[in-house]
Amino acid sequence: MELGTVSVTPWEAEAFVDYDRLIKVFGAKPLTDNEINMLKNVTEELHIMISRRVFYSHRDFDKFLEAYKSSRRCALYTGRGPSGNTHLGHMLPWIFTKWLQDKLGLDLFFQMTDDEKFWHTEEREFEYFNSLAYENILDLAALGLDHRKTHVIIDSEDIGYLYPIVIKIAKKITFSVQRATFGFTDSTNVGMIFYPTLQMAVAFLPSELFREPIEVLIPAGIDQDPYWRIARDIATSLGYPKPSQIHNKLLPGLGIGGKMSSSKPETAIYTTDPPELAYGKVVKAYTGGRATAEEQRKFGGNPDVCPVYKMYEMMFEENDMKLYERYYSCRGGSLLCGECKTELAERVARFLKEHQSRRIRAVSHTEKYLIRNKFDPPIIKRT
Ligand code: TYM
Repeated sequence: MELGTVSVTPWEAEAFVDYDRLIKVFGAKPLTDNEINMLKNVTEELHIMISRRVFYSHRDFDKFLEAYKSSRRCALYTGRGPSGNTHLGHMLPWIFTKWLQDKLGLDLFFQMTDDEKFWHTEEREFEYFNSLAYENILDLAALGLDHRKTHVIIDSEDIGYLYPIVIKIAKKITFSVQRATFGFTDSTNVGMIFYPTLQMAVAFLPSELFREPIEVLIPAGIDQDPYWRIARDIATSLGYPKPSQIHNKLLPGLGIGGKMSSSKPETAIYTTDPPELAYGKVVKAYTGGRATAEEQRKFGGNPDVCPVYKMYEMMFEENDMKLYERYYSCRGGSLLCGECKTELAERVARFLKEHQSRRIRAVSHTEKYLIRNKFDPPIIKRT
């Protein structure tokens, strides 16, 4: 979707975009106090990613919460295209999803799209992406997602769970819809053209597995929204509830502009980065500061365009008062970028150290997350 000079698609996205305009163009709704109060009513407290509107827009989140409150059966769905190691941007929606899972006690279906990433990337063998799917499960385990309630579908190996649904989805979607929604062209390979049916299918899988209509909520980056627009259009005609979404803004990379992305490894913090390497990346980050310390003291910096401030706001500062203090000290020129970056570098390095020791402990039990070890694939009822 083009927004002036920037574009947001599932495969390419800026971080500092006009998010309000983006949701208007996408046709989603801003998250308002109404939905936030409804959530608080159920969860009793709010995650900072909600109160700070990191998750900022939605489709039918209110209806999902109503369904949950009236004891209708609900589930969560999110995913990952394993194209490399996990970075902090990927972790952002998963951290919130874990919080929701803990608060609501729901099953989470987690899709690993090794096929998508193979079709999308030129140079690598398919096996590389499949191995990464397993490698990335370590991050889900290290985050503490409950393996009894978290079910990972690896597309290439668990296709039997999706294919009976995909067959029906594929018949409903024309190439012209795909082209208009995802920007495919005559030179796009047919794997990519077919792929969206797989990402949509997981939204309907819980209804097939539990053999009743399941209300599904998808917490994910706003860049993934195009899939859900189509999924919602076709859901009713396939006999499934429309999946609901709650969208997060994109964590910027540590360079100028752009989301944190595997395509710019020097500006991304990977969960596998040695803590000292990550420390160095943060210390070298681009900021919203002035050219010299003198100018910064005189005119102040600009946290609104600063990826370092955004890292605090979106993930690394729990305390609202401290966040505001940081914001205004930066604006007022009393906080210099060096100090602000060093503090963040320390927090990031500490987070990685702890996360990595949990990753090591997870190595022996990734199997527990696989859907194939827990559910039978949907049954095709012959007529
Ligand atoms: P992928 O691997 O590109 O991204 C995984 C999740 O991370 C979000 N994300 C970000 N969030 C904040 N800041 C960033 N810099 C950032 N970069 C990525 C994405 O929005 C996504 O939520 N096709 C999908 C895989 C997938 C999926 C799903 C994702 C399959 N089913 C259902 C979400 C929900 C993909 O390649 O995601």
